[in-house]
Amino acid sequence: MTSTPTVPTQDELKAQVGLAALAHVPADAVIGVGTGSTVNHFIDALARQRVALRGAVSSSVASTERMRAHGIPVLDANDVDSVAVYIDGADEIDAQGFMIKGGGAALTREKIVASLSDCFICIADESKLVQTLGAFPLPVEVVPMATRRIARRFAERGGQARVRLRDGQPLVTDNGQHILDVTGLRITDPLAFELEVSQWPGVVTVGVFARQKARIGLLGTAAGVRTLRFG
Ligand code: 5RP
Repeated sequence: MTSTPTVPTQDELKAQVGLAALAHVPADAVIGVGTGSTVNHFIDALARQRVALRGAVSSSVASTERMRAHGIPVLDANDVDSVAVYIDGADEIDAQGFMIKGGGAALTREKIVASLSDCFICIADESKLVQTLGAFPLPVEVVPMATRRIARRFAERGGQARVRLRDGQPLVTDNGQHILDVTGLRITDPLAFELEVSQWPGVVTVGVFARQKARIGLLGTAAGVRTLRFG
């Protein structure tokens, strides 16, 4: 009797790449750790496999709490010069390794920790691979008093910006700011877009990761982990 192969769920694909990322963690290193459901699988795999680490620099309160619960030492970003690798998920990634991030509202600290490493390893299920960034609503962390002005600037570019809510109130990030989610954009030049939007007064961080792009992508697929290397 032959059995029909089961299609892995998105969460199983995330677990697959969370585990695969362990092969990219050097022994006794200080690493950077991102935020989100895919990274949660990575953190759990680190703990399960008892990977020896000097410590981890965390990109969010949520990841810090999860690592501490597992006994993984969490270091302050100000106490390290660099991290060996930075491992994080993405909401979208293109064929150059440019990404949209911030679906979990942790984009500012993610960009800071990513900047401590030359090796961003993006772990994601294959649905995150896109041709052009922008179908996923672009997260932008903003100082609340600048929200309307920034929303108008996006409108001039054809985007519709909405304040992200939690329980009916503006979501407050780990940094005490708000998030705008911007739909209707097609980001054909991520480097130029990131540079421009980052300069608008009141923008704390734009969720385009072009300067801090991925060097390696580990994509979970039904056929196994697909590894992409970006220049
Ligand atoms: C959090 C992020 C996440 O990496 C991104 O939202 C992907 O999340 P998930 O792994 O849950 O799909 O940028 O700010």
